Amino acid sequence: MKLAFKSNATLSLRGLAQRHGVRAMSTDSSGLKARLMEIMPAKQAALKAMKKDHGHKIVDKVTIDQLIGGARSIKSMLWETSLLDPVEGIRFRGYTIPELQEKLPSYAGPADAGEPMPEALLWLLLCDEIPTKAQADALSAELHARAKLPDHVEPMIRAFPKGMHPMTQLSSAILAMQTDSVFASEYAKGTSKALYWEHTYEDMLNVLARLPEVCALIYRCTYFDGKLGAPYDKSLDYSGNFCQMLGLNDPGFAELMRLYIVIHSDHEGGNASAHTCHLVGSTLSDPYLSLSASMNALAGPLHGLANQEVLGWLLGLQNTLKEKGVEVTPQSITDFAWETLKAGKVIPGYGHAVLRKTDPRYTCQREFALKHLPDYDLFKLVNTVYEVMPGVLTDHGKTKNPYPNVDSHSGVLLKYYGFDQYDYYTVLFGVGRAYGVCAQLFWDRALSLPLERPKSVTSEWLENFIKNNPEGLN
Ligand SMILES: CC(C)(COP(=O)(O)OP(=O)(O)OC[C@H]1O[C@@H](n2cnc3c(N)ncnc32)[C@H](O)[C@@H]1OP(=O)(O)O)[C@@H](O)C(=O)NCCC(=O)NCCS
Repeated sequence: MKLAFKSNATLSLRGLAQRHGVRAMSTDSSGLKARLMEIMPAKQAALKAMKKDHGHKIVDKVTIDQLIGGARSIKSMLWETSLLDPVEGIRFRGYTIPELQEKLPSYAGPADAGEPMPEALLWLLLCDEIPTKAQADALSAELHARAKLPDHVEPMIRAFPKGMHPMTQLSSAILAMQTDSVFASEYAKGTSKALYWEHTYEDMLNVLARLPEVCALIYRCTYFDGKLGAPYDKSLDYSGNFCQMLGLNDPGFAELMRLYIVIHSDHEGGNASAHTCHLVGSTLSDPYLSLSASMNALAGPLHGLANQEVLGWLLGLQNTLKEKGVEVTPQSITDFAWETLKAGKVIPGYGHAVLRKTDPRYTCQREFALKHLPDYDLFKLVNTVYEVMPGVLTDHGKTKNPYPNVDSHSGVLLKYYGFDQYDYYTVLFGVGRAYGVCAQLFWDRALSLPLERPKSVTSEWLENFIKNNPEGLN
């Protein structure tokens, strides 16, 4: 929704913020909050007017297939930050991934000097405008200033049992940080509805700022001696500092991480992690509670965990063929794929609930690999799998989309840079996804979106409906 800026509404919001003594301006070292305060009134007014003038108009209808089949594609949710086309793929605030790579500032400066910075993407998702490099850098600095963890969080991560899945640790650590929730404490004090956006904003930036250290601690404690790869370094950007704390100190890996966070951030609102954050937030649970819930959805193997499953599948393929003394060829991959399918399992990294073509998030990772690791054996394997799998899945005849999704490629890139712990991969997806779902959560509160409450029916209700309406509703 592109809406005009109305300066008179801006002034009244500024006045409101001042009257309520909002910490807004004092903690706004990047200028992002001030910019949002300028934009918000016009967006709020436009949505209100749309609802008033057009609220009764029908935009979709629902079949019994959709009702039983996981609500596929039913238009029933407002999600501002991105929109998915089944054939073209995702657009973030109207921009495709190649356009983001072309327009968003990179760590080195100009867009063409490297991959887009996640800080710049966050600005775009929130404000619907491409930030300057100076704005992206200022946001990096503001995130660093907000990054200190509550005292109890690090000891808690260190005390987690060794075998606890990294996603369980991530979700728990986000919950533990909820003690710092501005939204929860202001709500308890009886804050005004008109300021929910501001408390959400504070929590959003704080939690995003704290994720790198939380995730690095989880990584280092789960697989190593618990010592961070490097101390927190505010002189770097978000991704560079994160990679150093992980202990993967390679500029190429930091570039991958920038791209990785950007492309995993948002995939419109209906996917499970996005929808969960939006749903939980609609009860006015604060952003920590909402994001933790979102991560639990992401941890499912049909969703974000598929990236760990893909690498497991590829390595299983390599090992099985090696043990049998069979060469990796299109035919031997096809045979292995059929073994997987005949065992009643899915091919991880292929298929999608909405997309009907190769995922552009797959394509951009492929291009990254062609540029940085064209001769890597696992990349070659992924390419050969890509050559045969759409045909196998088409012959299998079940999946509506036989093409690869985002998870099909990411593990191979991570492994190239020495990231071998593949049951951690979904945590990295989680860092990216947090950017998208938190940005939308901000707009959920800024636009006063209500408690979500779709209607469910029983199968008995459906039987009666069919009896009374043999042709369905028109
Ligand atoms: C993503 C996914 C869950 C979408 O599910 P969906 O919307 O139900 O997909 P479809 O409508 O195409 O599914 C129709 C059938 O094809 C099957 N199918 C879909 N993708 C498949 C795959 N990659 N391998 C084997 N079978 C697949 C489904 O399991 C379903 O079988 P069923 O009728 O026996 O239940 C599904 O494609 C999948 O399981 N992919 C593998 C996991 C994955 O990569 N997840 C990450 C998504 S980004």
